[in-house]
Amino acid sequence: MTADTLQIEIQQTTKSRLQEVDFDNLVFGKNISDHMFVAEYRNGQWQDLRVVPYGDLSLSPATAALHYGQAIFEGMKAYRNDKGEVLTFRAIDNWARLNKSAERLCMPTIPEDIFMGGLTELLRLDAGWVPAQDGCSLYIRPYMFASDPYIGVKPSESYYFIIFTSPVGTYYAKPPRVKVETKYIRAAEGGVGGTKCAGNYAGSLYPAKLAQQEGYDQLIWTDAREHAIIEESGTMNIMFVLDGKLVTPKVSETTLDGITRKSIVAVAQHWGVPVEERVITVKEIIEALKNGSLEAAFGAGTAVVISPFATISYEGVDYTVPEVKPDSFVAKVKTYLTDLRTGKVEDPFGWTVKI
Ligand code: COI
Repeated sequence: MTADTLQIEIQQTTKSRLQEVDFDNLVFGKNISDHMFVAEYRNGQWQDLRVVPYGDLSLSPATAALHYGQAIFEGMKAYRNDKGEVLTFRAIDNWARLNKSAERLCMPTIPEDIFMGGLTELLRLDAGWVPAQDGCSLYIRPYMFASDPYIGVKPSESYYFIIFTSPVGTYYAKPPRVKVETKYIRAAEGGVGGTKCAGNYAGSLYPAKLAQQEGYDQLIWTDAREHAIIEESGTMNIMFVLDGKLVTPKVSETTLDGITRKSIVAVAQHWGVPVEERVITVKEIIEALKNGSLEAAFGAGTAVVISPFATISYEGVDYTVPEVKPDSFVAKVKTYLTDLRTGKVEDPFGWTVKI
């Protein structure tokens, strides 16, 4: 079955909210577009595929996901090119990662044609919501949750898969100040850190709140055993430029296989920039900050894109991260990825798809 032969019922809104949105002042996550794609899993099958006006769901208070956290999501973006067409970026990788999360959380996988077909129909209908403004895009949130109205602990037998979208601007208004976390953890070996499950984000809120009270915007997560190895940052992967090399923690079962992260690695390799995906210790980064060999430190993710850090704090000391220079690798890769996503340059990787 291809996307064209999928049975997706389309119900268009009679009251678009598009005119209410101030596209010149988009705040991340505030505006939700007119429609959503919904599929329901029952009796071992995905069914009732539909694009409907965005709105509330009616759920039992016993809904399994609300109690035991069988809930996973993805984040991806669509862009508008100079001709006004809509382009998606590596959506197929998000589909694959969602299914990896689904398997680990004992949830059904979603077939490629349902994911891509639902996304395509939704973007066709809400194409007007894709911003054309510089630095803006349409954030796409596919997610799945367990919907059995049942309070025993077991994998649910029914699920919702939904995609909705939101026009967004930048995530961080200014370069974030980040603190190396040495008490709490995000993930441990054998756990679910490598998945994009809701609980990973819930568990990060309290340590992040404590860091915010101390004046930091985000955390750098370290390994669960000794807090000695850098894993990722809150809501993003972490990358460094050290002695002219792009250095980033290798993907493991405690880190997310970020799509922006792997795009940056691929572009660096394409440009002949040396890349090291390896174990990075906190000690090494603090030493590099002290002796000046650290050229850049930044977060990479769909929401944040590339977000250079202003400060890294460790054991009560704030270290200033060098500013990104216009001719640096970080500045160039950021511009290049934006140009690629918005169709300004040719895409040698085959990552962009026109809707
Ligand atoms: C994304 O980058 O898409 C994420 O999932 C981060 C999100 C929690 C804001």
